[in-house]
Amino acid sequence: MLVAPSILSADFGNLARDVKAICDGGCDLVHVDVMDGHFVPNMTIGPVVVSAVAKAATKPLDIHLMVENNTFFVDLFAPLKPGYISFHIEEEKHPHRLVQKIRDLGIKPAIVLNPHTQPKCVEFLLEDLDMVLLMSVNPGFGGQKFIPSVLEKAKMMKELIEKRNPKCLIEVDGGVNGKNVHDLKAAGVDVVVAGSYVFGSENISQAIESLKV
Ligand code: DX5
Ligand code: ZN
Repeated sequence: MLVAPSILSADFGNLARDVKAICDGGCDLVHVDVMDGHFVPNMTIGPVVVSAVAKAATKPLDIHLMVENNTFFVDLFAPLKPGYISFHIEEEKHPHRLVQKIRDLGIKPAIVLNPHTQPKCVEFLLEDLDMVLLMSVNPGFGGQKFIPSVLEKAKMMKELIEKRNPKCLIEVDGGVNGKNVHDLKAAGVDVVVAGSYVFGSENISQAIESLKV
């Protein structure tokens, strides 16, 4: 299992220190939640703060857009050379076009599905994607309860991926901890995002290690 700690639960007064702690602690990606106060009822950070995160990070950034105007934000964050940019399918009229744009910028494209969204809706995008992100909470806040139906959804997604593009990864975001990570592994998940579980633990590297199942 690859591990992408979400800096949403970091101490923003000591952000560089916390980003270093997860990178030194063995994370695979640094998950960055960008919220605009429109697509979700919360706001987080923009390119000024994310560039400070990029400077402190020794692992690729995994930027999760929770915004209304995806193209605008892709252009804003592209100069920071993140590993991945993911956007919500529920908020994009032309997902195929945006996937191509992200790839042309030299970034791996990923698409996010909210808890209610059918896996099938990305079937004909899979061959152009590096990753699909399944939300296991409603986007907007850290520290929420895991929605277990994502396990069945991950299995359905895995079948579509096997058929269309076996290289595409499945990532799950929200309420992930050292217990449910085993069920996620069994369901075919490749990457877990974890915010409160990692940053709320006594020992960050041990928490990351416990997710590497
Ligand atoms: C929620 C964010 C998540 C969040 C996860 O909208 O996308 O990345 O930080 O936090 P936890 O792991 O605490 O549920
Ligand atoms: Zn996220």
